[in-house]
Amino acid sequence: MSKIDFFKTFIKDRDVASITPTSMRCVKKVCTNINFSKDFLLVEYGPGNGVFSKYLLENMTPGSRLILIESNKNFVTHLKKTLPDPRVEVYNILAGDVESILKPEDVGAVDYVLSGIPFSFLKKDRKKIVLDATKKILREGGHFLAYQTSGHLKKPVKEVFGNLETDFEPLNIPPYLIYKVVKNGV
Ligand SMILES: C[S@@+](CC[C@H](N)C(=O)[O-])C[C@H]1O[C@@H](n2cnc3c(N)ncnc32)[C@H](O)[C@@H]1O
Repeated sequence: MSKIDFFKTFIKDRDVASITPTSMRCVKKVCTNINFSKDFLLVEYGPGNGVFSKYLLENMTPGSRLILIESNKNFVTHLKKTLPDPRVEVYNILAGDVESILKPEDVGAVDYVLSGIPFSFLKKDRKKIVLDATKKILREGGHFLAYQTSGHLKKPVKEVFGNLETDFEPLNIPPYLIYKVVKNGV
């Protein structure tokens, strides 16, 4: 998908929240937190045009799996068309409903949740629903990685997970704060 088409999708849907896809520099920086040498199950919220998804597929093992959760139908159609890979599943649902599409054995077994959704657009209770669902689907020691435009998510993340590290990528439109969280305990 071209940057123009991404922008047109943004114009029609405020939840897209960014005028252009994340830069490759930022994609690589977020993905340094992923161990690509092992098989993993990764759930991505808000893949958009698939800029992270493509990088993940290029680097993950043949035994790894990628589950994409995207609210925008235009992006879902694009992702299904451009990522014909048996390791990928694409769902047109909201991030807070992630558990509904997982196999029972995958709940509590997810290694990474990677999120680009604009949490700042969600009401407080909806934000908590997404964070609680994320914690539930992750395995013990699993990672939640999110890129956001500000520090608004620090407090809710600490309340749900009890820990947080951050990093910053200034060379992106918009600049992103990168949240790195580990699930410790239930
Ligand atoms: C800032 S864009 C990021 C797109 C892409 N990951 C990137 O890095 O360029 C946010 C994406 O999250 C999607 N989105 C917003 N709210 C969502 C929600 N509640 N559940 C799933 N996807 C959502 C939007 O449609 C959009 O694709």
